[in-house]
Amino acid sequence: MLKTPAIQAGPSGRAVAEQMNSDLLTAFQLHLNMERQAHTVYFAAALWCAERELRGFAQFFRNESLSELQHSAKFADFLIARGQTVELHDLPAPQQQWSMPVDLMATSFQMEVDVTTSLQQLYAFAERSSDTRTSVFLDPMIEKQTQSEHEFAHLLGRVRFADNQASALLLIDNELELGKFQPASMQTNPV
Ligand SMILES: [Fe+2]
Repeated sequence: MLKTPAIQAGPSGRAVAEQMNSDLLTAFQLHLNMERQAHTVYFAAALWCAERELRGFAQFFRNESLSELQHSAKFADFLIARGQTVELHDLPAPQQQWSMPVDLMATSFQMEVDVTTSLQQLYAFAERSSDTRTSVFLDPMIEKQTQSEHEFAHLLGRVRFADNQASALLLIDNELELGKFQPASMQTNPV
């Protein structure tokens, strides 16, 4: 008679090939919630811009807000695939007031930096526990996150350059409406 192999199950009861290290799992749940928090912060930023007729900025932050939600969904998919149960934490109310656009951009840049730091910590945990599945999952996330920091640094620089002048800010607003937020590149065909 054929023997059924013993299959490991994760906390959700789903079959898993490899259990997740508990420190890694805790950091993963925190990171997923950090992405949800970023979603609410950027939604608040979009509202602040829309209330001030900054259409391009509002569109930019609305899209950023949606992509943060996608990031948290991506982390959720990974946890589900690893047999884990996703924990949704209470989120603090986001900041909703800034004195001027440059402050909003500085807040945003700092948040991107914090998200990168959290991803790097996850990566270190994954390496320490020889969890290749997690390292492979994190690789493209870190690459995209680094690109995001680069874009926010560029936008912060441009908004700083505008020095709170309405005409310069409206120019940037128009660019954002056209989806132009890429920093300059020295490569002729950026790869
Ligand atoms: Fe994100």
